[in-house]
Amino acid sequence: MIVLNFKTYPEVTLGNNAVKLAQIAQEVFEQYQVPIILCLQATDIYKVKQHCHLPLFAQHIDPINPGQNTGFISALSVKENGASGVMINHSEHRIGDENIQKTLAICKQNQLQTLVCVENAEEAVKINEWQPDMIALEDPVLIGGEVSIVKNEAGKQKVEEFVAKNLSAKTLVGAGVKSKDDIIVSLKIGAAGVLLASGFTKAADPKAFLEDLSQGFK
Ligand code: G3P
Repeated sequence: MIVLNFKTYPEVTLGNNAVKLAQIAQEVFEQYQVPIILCLQATDIYKVKQHCHLPLFAQHIDPINPGQNTGFISALSVKENGASGVMINHSEHRIGDENIQKTLAICKQNQLQTLVCVENAEEAVKINEWQPDMIALEDPVLIGGEVSIVKNEAGKQKVEEFVAKNLSAKTLVGAGVKSKDDIIVSLKIGAAGVLLASGFTKAADPKAFLEDLSQGFK
């Protein structure tokens, strides 16, 4: 599985680029049949949904029930706009245990899938008890860089510890993932897939980039 986080990069936000990148991802999915999830800014979900059949996740929602909470993002709103899931607690948007639990409960009520991000195996074990669908381990230091988590000694050790926990949630790994070889190594360690952003959103040729990654699953 490949989870593509579009973050708030201008390469995604400007013009119709979120739609263009989503369509590229869909074409690659149709060719290789490797499942792809897109994590979008809440404001892009509706627009992308009109042109893309891949599962769309919001990058964040707020743990609120719809009503008197101006400016917050509700589960109901992302669902009504086409999301099928929510990313929670990304390392660029940590929300704390209480809010993670509240958000998971609200997602369940709204039949939204959940992907919770963690920074180490212990955190993953704790959050796994709260039954998210997926847990993604990322090393914050390596995010956006050229060295992937599985090619860095400390990062690889973290991934091995994480996978060894045999969690009920699907396990994803991320930070600096940029090549087919990163996929091969991640799967060999035992992860179900990867979570990545800059490799795709900033690629000179995003389609070729994603095709290369997809080949790593074959
Ligand atoms: O959510 C994915 C992310 O944090 C990793 O980013 O740019 O290193 O693939 P990147």
